[in-house]
Amino acid sequence: MSAEPALDSSAEDWWRTAVVYQVYPRSFADSDGDGVGDLRGLIGRLDHLERLGVDVVWLSPIYPSPQDDAGYDISDYQDVDPTFGTLADLDDLLAQLHARGMRLMMDLVVNHTSDEHPWFVESRSSPDSPKRDWYWWRPAREGMQGGTPGAEPTNWESFFSGSAWEYDDAGGEYYLHLFSRKQPDLNWENPEVREAVYAMMRWWLDRGVDGFRMDVINLISKDIDLPDGVVHHGGQFGDGFGHVMCGPRIHEFIAEMHREVFEGRDRKVLTVGEMPGVTVEEARLFTDPARREVDMVFTFEHVGVDHARSKWDLVPFRLTTLKAVLGRWQAGLAETGWNSLYWNNHDQPRVVSRFGDDGAWRVRSAKLLGTVLHLHRGTPYIYQGEELGMTNFPFAGIEEFRDIESLNHHRHAVERGDDPAQVLAALRSRSRDNARTPVQWDGSPNAGFTTGEPWLAVNPNHTEVNAEAAEADPDSVLHHYRRLVELRHTEPVVAHGDFTMLLPDDEQVYAFTRAHEDVELLVAANLSGEVAKADLDLDGWADAELLLSNLDGGATAASAATAWDGALQPWEARVLRRQQARL
Ligand code: NOJ
Repeated sequence: MSAEPALDSSAEDWWRTAVVYQVYPRSFADSDGDGVGDLRGLIGRLDHLERLGVDVVWLSPIYPSPQDDAGYDISDYQDVDPTFGTLADLDDLLAQLHARGMRLMMDLVVNHTSDEHPWFVESRSSPDSPKRDWYWWRPAREGMQGGTPGAEPTNWESFFSGSAWEYDDAGGEYYLHLFSRKQPDLNWENPEVREAVYAMMRWWLDRGVDGFRMDVINLISKDIDLPDGVVHHGGQFGDGFGHVMCGPRIHEFIAEMHREVFEGRDRKVLTVGEMPGVTVEEARLFTDPARREVDMVFTFEHVGVDHARSKWDLVPFRLTTLKAVLGRWQAGLAETGWNSLYWNNHDQPRVVSRFGDDGAWRVRSAKLLGTVLHLHRGTPYIYQGEELGMTNFPFAGIEEFRDIESLNHHRHAVERGDDPAQVLAALRSRSRDNARTPVQWDGSPNAGFTTGEPWLAVNPNHTEVNAEAAEADPDSVLHHYRRLVELRHTEPVVAHGDFTMLLPDDEQVYAFTRAHEDVELLVAANLSGEVAKADLDLDGWADAELLLSNLDGGATAASAATAWDGALQPWEARVLRRQQARL
């Protein structure tokens, strides 16, 4: 047996050559037949992750929670919800990951707690509670009676529909909840809150975890005057986003967290801040290593390219917009800072259904999208099932959804008179439940996910789209993703090369080059079902090696030199590699 792979976390920026895999535990693998995934289920599937070659597992929340927002409403930060297992299971997962040379990144949800967290229970118990100020309590609007329509302290809408304020009869005040009413926002202005969070983070690091993915972390500093937001035409609520996003003390808080939690440790852990609304200029500040804030952020710009005012407004996807956004982020963080790269997570619809073709070209377009993303500069994230080319779910009715955001939106939209058929069409395309259907392990009735009744239906296409079938097929999406992960580890240009976007105005072709020392890559991908001709200057590429192709046979066999004329088959992606002698 080979020696255990050593985890060398001494390098400041080991994550620059890493690939992260996100596990959404409810939907990954169920070991006890209750229909909900759990830690032992995940442990039982570690071979899959090891074979894929990923370096880090980001685990969505497994903490005790009433599960109002599927675990993003935490009632105890230092334990494991019995649905998912025990702390001992978590320790075992950590040990087994480390033994296989992988790291564990926990989800850190500290913009808000659950309303069942003892901190909030105490805070709510009385206006005189010593923890009252740990949350955002405010009286009714002046001259108005608390609990009556329009008396909310501000006109803000919650991200999950309805007012962002909940009236508490007992204390006669409102509390702020940017998400569900069971997710009250913590008041980071209070230093006791910050110290309690830092102590909890240190506790997890002492336990051996290797990093944190920080949930909506740029919302922790808010404009403390809490001004009303602009009411857009015909809207019931105001838009408070600008008053809660990247507020005046955000960099101070993040830098303080870094100092209090991460500095002086003997290993370098990974920190990624989820930051809705963040601009590339802000991201450069957050990820500038000299400022010691976070290693990378999750931007939302590229997953907003097919949104209008809200994600529920269906706008056709334009490749040129996507390239403009991603190209700007590549350029903006080229000298200072670092990008995270993702198409999917537990909040986004499946990328093959969104930017690809999940019908006739499912396999090829899933491989293409993986190729394009993984060949960018930054740290790629693979969301469970993406490596199988899993698709959106054919939702037929509202009763099939479980996600609070989807259910609330449906209720509010139908109540205000929107056409129910259109509301459902938007949910079918955009609901977070598309990402949350169980992982398709095999073709058996519940896809090998559970022996019980799955908490969310398994996609009927699991008979075809599943890990077992993908393992057996050398041309599967899975084998292609394996090759992509391998390239990041073995080709320095993939991890470290400069990025140059080509053909920004081409509506069909996504093309760019990467360059590092004497190696150059040319990536060209046809995001359409029609043949394309990439209008590229191919001078000097005639002797290039075909490093990767998504056509059958392309994942494993890098072919010899081939003169290419720029023609691309439907959904074809190719990566050329050339080496130039130094002058
Ligand atoms: C972002 C998480 O990814 C999402 O799933 C959650 O609903 C919100 N933050 C609130 O925690």
